[in-house]
This record gives sequence, structure tokens and C-alpha cells, in this order.
Amino acid sequence: MSMRTWTVGDLDQIAAIEEECFSDPWTRRMLADSFLSDRFVGILLEEDGNVVAYGGMSVVMDEAEIQLVAVSEMYRRCGRGRAVLEALIEKARERGVKKVFLEVRVSNAPAQILYLKNGFCGLYCRTRYYPDGEDAVVMVKELD
Ligand SMILES: CC(C)(COP(=O)(O)OP(=O)(O)OC[C@H]1O[C@@H](n2cnc3c(N)ncnc32)[C@H](O)[C@@H]1OP(=O)(O)O)[C@@H](O)C(=O)NCCC(=O)NCCS
Repeated sequence: MSMRTWTVGDLDQIAAIEEECFSDPWTRRMLADSFLSDRFVGILLEEDGNVVAYGGMSVVMDEAEIQLVAVSEMYRRCGRGRAVLEALIEKARERGVKKVFLEVRVSNAPAQILYLKNGFCGLYCRTRYYPDGEDAVVMVKELD
């Protein structure tokens, strides 16, 4: 098992997990565009040559926004989501980030529990934030 940054060669596997996990997945084009920005940090967890989990965030000045966190379905509930989240937070710290933000669907209890257990607090709701009309909870973690 190894954690590393994304390369272009990983995009097909990441896009496949996006489709498996989300009703509004990042497309391969959106994932590829992330390489155009110095602000984007993409990391993944690889096991036996396969991508099983990944995360992505955008860093601007001393704030970061986590945009992607996902674990392929058959690999869940074994700490991989937490490992990806911790790795993103570590990368954010290295870049001098003070606050890390993210959005999560109000119905997504597993992700909310993961974030709460890792020091994120709920800030406010964004009404009808997602394309299907679901609300988002905005969460933040302050780094010391
Ligand atoms: C949310 C997600 C990333 C969690 O990944 P994971 O590898 O299963 O999470 P972990 O094993 O690291 O879990 C860490 C903690 O989160 C909580 N948690 C995770 N999944 C949970 C679930 N289904 N039900 C309740 N608590 C859960 C638990 O407290 C867990 O600790 P524990 O297993 O010791 O009880 C994964 O379910 C996923 O990819 N979901 C689909 C994509 C998604 O919703 N991403 C988040 C978008 S904001």
C-alpha cells in the first residue's frame, strides 16, 4: 500500500471510482484539468498496482478546499478514507494552510462522521447546492 501524488496515467482509474461513488462525478476532463493548476494537490492510495482511494484539494494562500475524497466501495471501512484525509491535511500544513474547508451532502453520514472524527466542524448549510437540489454542509478544520 502506498500513498503518492497523481499522474496522468492514474486518471482512468480515478474517473472510474468517481463514477462508482458519485451521481455528479468529476469527469476525466475535469480531473485532467487539475494538472493545469499549481494550486491543486491530488493524492492517491495504491494497492497491488490499483488505485483504491484518492483525494484532491485546491490551495489558495493560507486556505485549502478539499474537493475530492473517495474510497472504492470494496475497500471501505478499513481506514483508507482517514489516511487520504490525513495526507491531504499534511500537504496543506506543508503549504502553510491555516484553514481547510470542504462541502458534503447533508445525506452523506459516513463522510460527515469521517470529517467530524478528524477535527472538522460544521459551519453552515448551502441550500440546494448540488445539481439534484440537495443541500451541502460546509465544514472547516483549523490547523495550528
Ligand atoms: C466517506 C468515505 C471516503 C469513507 O472512507 P472509508 O475508507 O470507508 O473510511 P474509514 O475506514 O477511514 O473510516 C473512518 C471513520 O469514519 C466513519 N465512517 C466511515 N464510513 C462510515 C459508515 N459507512 N458509517 C458510519 N461511520 C463511517 C467511522 O467513524 C470510521 O471509523 P471506524 O471504522 O473506526 O468506525 C467512503 O465511504 C466513500 O468513498 N464514500 C463515497 C464517496 C464520498 O461520499 N466521499 C466524500 C464526499 S464529501
